[in-house]
Amino acid sequence: MATDGSRAYGASDDPHGDHRLVIAIDGPAAAGKTTVARAVAEELGAILLDTGVLYRALTLKALRSNANLGDGDALAGLARQHHIDIVPLSRDDGRLYDVLLDGDDVTWEIRTSAVDANVSIVAAHSPVRNALLPVQRRIAASRGAIVMVGRDIGTTVVPNAGTKIFLNASAEERARRRQHELQERGVEAEIGQLTDDLRRRDELDRSRATSPLRPADDAIIIDTDGQSIDMVVELVEDLVRTAWDRLGVPETATGIARGNLRA
Ligand code: DC
Repeated sequence: MATDGSRAYGASDDPHGDHRLVIAIDGPAAAGKTTVARAVAEELGAILLDTGVLYRALTLKALRSNANLGDGDALAGLARQHHIDIVPLSRDDGRLYDVLLDGDDVTWEIRTSAVDANVSIVAAHSPVRNALLPVQRRIAASRGAIVMVGRDIGTTVVPNAGTKIFLNASAEERARRRQHELQERGVEAEIGQLTDDLRRRDELDRSRATSPLRPADDAIIIDTDGQSIDMVVELVEDLVRTAWDRLGVPETATGIARGNLRA
Protein backbone atom coordinates (compact mmCIF):
# COMPACT_ATOMS: atom_id res chain seq x y z
CA MET A 1 0.00 0.00 0.00
CA ALA A 2 1.41 3.34 -1.04
CA THR A 3 4.51 1.42 -2.02
CA ASP A 4 4.58 2.67 -5.59
CA GLY A 5 3.87 6.21 -4.55
CA SER A 6 6.58 6.18 -1.95
CA ARG A 7 9.11 4.82 -4.42
CA ALA A 8 8.72 8.11 -6.21
CA TYR A 9 10.35 9.84 -3.23
CA GLY A 10 13.47 7.90 -4.15
CA ALA A 11 14.85 7.97 -0.64
CA SER A 12 16.37 5.24 1.44
CA ASP A 13 14.39 3.37 4.08
CA ASP A 14 17.45 3.08 6.31
CA PRO A 15 16.23 3.44 9.92
CA HIS A 16 19.68 4.74 10.86
CA GLY A 17 19.79 7.54 8.29
CA ASP A 18 19.96 11.20 9.28
CA HIS A 19 16.58 11.77 10.90
CA ARG A 20 17.40 14.83 12.97
CA LEU A 21 14.55 16.76 11.37
CA VAL A 22 11.95 14.11 12.16
CA ILE A 23 9.56 14.97 14.98
CA ALA A 24 7.97 11.76 16.25
CA ILE A 25 4.68 12.16 18.10
CA ASP A 26 3.37 8.91 19.55
CA GLY A 27 0.68 8.14 22.08
CA PRO A 28 -2.65 6.42 22.66
CA ALA A 29 -5.82 7.05 20.65
CA ALA A 30 -7.37 10.51 20.88
CA ALA A 31 -4.53 12.00 22.95
CA GLY A 32 -4.54 15.05 20.66
CA LYS A 33 -1.55 13.91 18.60
CA THR A 34 -2.85 14.98 15.20
CA THR A 35 -4.17 18.34 16.37
CA VAL A 36 -0.86 19.17 18.03
CA ALA A 37 1.13 17.78 15.11
CA ARG A 38 -0.76 19.85 12.58
CA ALA A 39 -0.14 23.09 14.51
CA VAL A 40 3.55 22.27 15.02
CA ALA A 41 3.95 21.33 11.35
CA GLU A 42 2.34 24.59 10.24
CA GLU A 43 4.59 26.58 12.52
CA LEU A 44 7.71 24.80 11.28
CA GLY A 45 6.79 24.65 7.63
CA ALA A 46 7.12 20.88 8.08
CA ILE A 47 5.02 18.21 6.43
CA LEU A 48 2.69 16.02 8.49
CA LEU A 49 2.35 12.26 8.14
CA ASP A 50 -0.37 10.65 10.21
CA THR A 51 0.67 6.99 9.99
CA GLY A 52 -2.61 5.72 11.47
CA VAL A 53 -4.16 6.56 8.09
CA LEU A 54 -2.21 3.68 6.50
CA TYR A 55 -3.56 1.16 9.02
CA ARG A 56 -7.06 2.61 8.76
CA ALA A 57 -7.16 2.52 4.95
CA LEU A 58 -5.90 -1.06 4.96
CA THR A 59 -8.60 -1.99 7.49
CA LEU A 60 -11.27 -0.37 5.31
CA LYS A 61 -10.00 -2.32 2.29
CA ALA A 62 -10.02 -5.55 4.31
CA LEU A 63 -13.60 -4.97 5.53
CA ARG A 64 -14.80 -4.10 2.03
CA SER A 65 -13.27 -7.23 0.58
CA ASN A 66 -14.42 -9.49 3.43
CA ALA A 67 -10.82 -10.46 4.14
CA ASN A 68 -10.06 -12.64 7.14
CA LEU A 69 -8.85 -10.17 9.77
CA GLY A 70 -7.02 -13.01 11.50
CA ASP A 71 -4.79 -13.69 8.50
CA GLY A 72 -1.79 -11.35 8.71
CA ASP A 73 -0.16 -12.60 5.51
CA ALA A 74 -3.33 -12.05 3.48
CA LEU A 75 -3.71 -8.56 4.95
CA ALA A 76 -0.08 -7.75 4.16
CA GLY A 77 -0.78 -8.95 0.60
CA LEU A 78 -3.69 -6.50 0.40
CA ALA A 79 -1.38 -3.76 1.66
CA ARG A 80 1.03 -4.44 -1.18
CA GLN A 81 -1.65 -4.61 -3.87
CA HIS A 82 -3.47 -1.38 -3.13
CA HIS A 83 -2.50 2.25 -3.07
CA ILE A 84 -3.04 4.87 -0.43
CA ASP A 85 -2.31 8.47 -1.13
CA ILE A 86 -2.44 11.33 1.33
CA VAL A 87 -2.89 14.52 -0.68
CA PRO A 88 -3.82 18.15 0.01
CA LEU A 89 -7.47 18.61 1.00
CA SER A 90 -10.00 19.00 -1.81
CA ARG A 91 -12.81 20.44 0.33
CA ASP A 92 -13.24 22.29 3.57
CA ASP A 93 -15.36 19.92 5.67
CA GLY A 94 -13.09 19.59 8.68
CA ARG A 95 -10.59 17.27 7.03
CA LEU A 96 -6.82 17.87 7.31
CA TYR A 97 -6.01 16.16 4.01
CA ASP A 98 -7.63 13.82 1.51
CA VAL A 99 -7.01 10.10 1.92
CA LEU A 100 -7.31 8.19 -1.34
CA LEU A 101 -7.62 4.43 -1.56
CA ASP A 102 -6.91 3.32 -5.11
CA GLY A 103 -7.84 6.84 -6.15
CA ASP A 104 -11.18 6.99 -4.25
CA ASP A 105 -11.72 9.53 -1.51
CA VAL A 106 -12.05 7.56 1.74
CA THR A 107 -11.17 10.41 4.12
CA TRP A 108 -14.27 9.92 6.29
CA GLU A 109 -14.86 6.21 5.64
CA ILE A 110 -11.61 5.43 7.46
CA ARG A 111 -13.04 7.17 10.56
CA THR A 112 -16.22 5.08 10.93
CA SER A 113 -16.90 2.96 14.01
CA ALA A 114 -16.43 -0.22 11.92
CA VAL A 115 -12.85 0.82 11.13
CA ASP A 116 -12.29 2.04 14.71
CA ALA A 117 -13.39 -1.34 16.03
CA ASN A 118 -11.09 -3.36 13.79
CA VAL A 119 -8.00 -1.29 13.06
CA SER A 120 -6.03 -2.43 16.10
CA ILE A 121 -6.67 -6.06 15.16
CA VAL A 122 -5.28 -5.45 11.68
CA ALA A 123 -2.37 -3.37 13.00
CA ALA A 124 -1.31 -6.10 15.43
CA HIS A 125 -0.15 -8.48 12.67
CA SER A 126 3.62 -8.51 12.16
CA PRO A 127 3.37 -9.06 8.36
CA VAL A 128 1.13 -6.00 8.13
CA ARG A 129 3.56 -3.87 10.14
CA ASN A 130 6.47 -5.15 8.07
CA ALA A 131 4.65 -4.24 4.86
CA LEU A 132 3.95 -0.69 6.01
CA LEU A 133 7.30 -0.01 7.70
CA PRO A 134 9.44 0.75 4.61
CA VAL A 135 6.74 3.04 3.26
CA GLN A 136 6.88 5.16 6.41
CA ARG A 137 10.68 5.12 6.55
CA ARG A 138 11.07 6.25 2.97
CA ILE A 139 8.78 9.19 3.59
CA ALA A 140 10.72 10.05 6.77
CA ALA A 141 14.01 10.01 4.89
CA SER A 142 12.84 11.88 1.86
CA ARG A 143 11.90 15.29 3.17
CA GLY A 144 13.12 18.12 5.32
CA ALA A 145 11.32 18.70 8.58
CA ILE A 146 8.48 16.21 9.03
CA VAL A 147 6.11 15.55 11.91
CA MET A 148 5.16 11.87 12.08
CA VAL A 149 2.22 10.76 14.21
CA GLY A 150 1.65 7.18 15.32
CA ARG A 151 2.25 4.57 18.00
CA ASP A 152 5.74 3.30 17.22
CA ILE A 153 7.48 6.13 15.38
CA GLY A 154 10.02 6.82 18.13
CA THR A 155 10.58 3.16 19.01
CA THR A 156 10.57 1.43 15.62
CA VAL A 157 9.86 3.48 12.51
CA VAL A 158 12.41 6.26 13.11
CA PRO A 159 14.37 5.24 16.22
CA ASN A 160 16.85 8.08 15.75
CA ALA A 161 14.29 10.85 15.22
CA GLY A 162 15.71 14.18 16.42
CA THR A 163 12.67 14.89 18.59
CA LYS A 164 10.51 12.25 20.26
CA ILE A 165 7.32 13.15 22.05
CA PHE A 166 4.82 10.83 23.72
CA LEU A 167 1.45 12.51 24.28
CA ASN A 168 -0.70 11.03 26.98
CA ALA A 169 -4.08 11.81 28.55
CA SER A 170 -6.53 9.93 30.75
CA ALA A 171 -9.08 7.71 29.00
CA GLU A 172 -11.91 9.93 30.28
CA GLU A 173 -10.33 13.07 28.86
CA ARG A 174 -9.62 11.37 25.56
CA ALA A 175 -13.20 10.08 25.31
CA ARG A 176 -14.51 13.62 25.89
CA ARG A 177 -12.28 14.92 23.08
CA ARG A 178 -13.39 12.13 20.75
CA GLN A 179 -17.06 12.86 21.57
CA HIS A 180 -16.51 16.53 20.74
CA GLU A 181 -14.79 15.65 17.44
CA LEU A 182 -17.68 13.37 16.49
CA GLN A 183 -20.28 15.99 17.45
CA GLU A 184 -18.60 18.44 15.10
CA ARG A 185 -19.27 15.93 12.32
CA GLY A 186 -22.90 15.51 13.46
CA VAL A 187 -22.33 12.09 15.04
CA GLU A 188 -23.68 11.44 18.55
CA ALA A 189 -21.82 8.94 20.73
CA GLU A 190 -22.19 7.92 24.35
CA ILE A 191 -19.22 8.82 26.59
CA GLY A 192 -19.13 5.49 28.46
CA GLN A 193 -19.05 3.57 25.19
CA LEU A 194 -16.31 5.81 23.79
CA THR A 195 -14.20 5.34 26.94
CA ASP A 196 -14.58 1.56 26.73
CA ASP A 197 -13.70 1.54 23.02
CA LEU A 198 -10.56 3.64 23.57
CA ARG A 199 -9.43 1.45 26.45
CA ARG A 200 -9.95 -1.68 24.37
CA ARG A 201 -8.00 -0.27 21.43
CA ASP A 202 -5.14 0.92 23.67
CA GLU A 203 -4.93 -2.49 25.30
CA LEU A 204 -4.63 -4.16 21.89
CA ASP A 205 -2.03 -1.61 20.77
CA ARG A 206 0.00 -1.98 24.00
CA SER A 207 -0.05 -5.75 24.18
CA ARG A 208 0.82 -6.67 20.60
CA ALA A 209 4.12 -8.49 20.06
CA THR A 210 5.47 -6.30 17.26
CA SER A 211 6.25 -2.65 18.00
CA PRO A 212 3.66 -2.15 20.75
CA LEU A 213 2.47 1.26 21.84
CA ARG A 214 4.98 2.55 24.40
CA PRO A 215 7.16 5.62 24.85
CA ALA A 216 10.70 5.31 23.51
CA ASP A 217 13.27 5.35 26.32
CA ASP A 218 14.42 8.79 25.18
CA ALA A 219 10.93 10.22 24.48
CA ILE A 220 9.60 13.17 26.41
CA ILE A 221 6.23 12.28 27.88
CA ILE A 222 3.64 15.06 27.98
CA ASP A 223 0.44 14.58 29.95
CA THR A 224 -2.16 16.74 28.22
CA ASP A 225 -4.98 16.43 30.80
CA GLY A 226 -6.14 19.93 31.64
CA GLN A 227 -3.70 21.57 29.20
CA SER A 228 -4.86 23.65 26.27
CA ILE A 229 -3.77 22.74 22.76
CA ASP A 230 -1.85 26.02 22.55
CA MET A 231 0.14 25.18 25.67
CA VAL A 232 1.07 21.75 24.36
CA VAL A 233 1.98 23.11 20.92
CA GLU A 234 4.24 25.72 22.46
CA LEU A 235 5.92 23.13 24.66
CA VAL A 236 6.53 20.81 21.70
CA GLU A 237 7.98 23.68 19.66
CA ASP A 238 10.36 24.51 22.50
CA LEU A 239 11.43 20.88 22.65
CA VAL A 240 12.07 20.83 18.90
CA ARG A 241 14.16 23.99 19.11
CA THR A 242 16.20 22.55 21.98
CA ALA A 243 16.69 19.26 20.12
CA TRP A 244 17.80 20.99 16.92
CA ASP A 245 20.26 23.16 18.86
CA ARG A 246 21.63 20.13 20.69
CA LEU A 247 21.95 18.13 17.47
CA GLY A 248 23.70 20.99 15.72
CA VAL A 249 21.11 21.23 12.98
CA PRO A 250 22.51 24.03 10.80
CA GLU A 251 20.27 27.00 10.05
CA THR A 252 20.64 26.25 6.36
CA ALA A 253 19.36 22.72 6.80
CA THR A 254 16.04 23.84 8.19
CA GLY A 255 15.84 27.19 6.40
CA ILE A 256 12.37 28.60 6.68
CA ALA A 257 11.43 25.99 9.24
CA ARG A 258 13.78 27.38 11.90
CA GLY A 259 12.76 30.94 11.17
CA ASN A 260 9.15 29.99 11.71
CA LEU A 261 9.67 28.76 15.23
CA ARG A 262 8.25 31.09 17.83
CA ALA A 263 11.04 32.93 19.62
O1 DC B 1 -3.94 7.19 15.30
P1 DC B 1 -5.14 6.40 14.83
O2 DC B 1 -6.23 6.28 15.86
O3 DC B 1 -5.66 6.88 13.52
O4 DC B 1 -4.57 4.93 14.58
C1 DC B 1 -5.40 3.86 14.23
C2 DC B 1 -4.81 2.54 14.65
O5 DC B 1 -3.68 2.25 13.85
C3 DC B 1 -4.36 2.45 16.09
O6 DC B 1 -5.35 1.91 16.92
C4 DC B 1 -3.17 1.55 16.04
C5 DC B 1 -2.69 1.61 14.62
N1 DC B 1 -1.44 2.32 14.46
C6 DC B 1 -0.30 1.61 14.71
O7 DC B 1 -0.37 0.48 15.15
N2 DC B 1 0.91 2.18 14.51
C7 DC B 1 1.01 3.44 14.05
N3 DC B 1 2.22 3.98 13.83
C8 DC B 1 -0.16 4.20 13.81
C9 DC B 1 -1.38 3.60 14.04
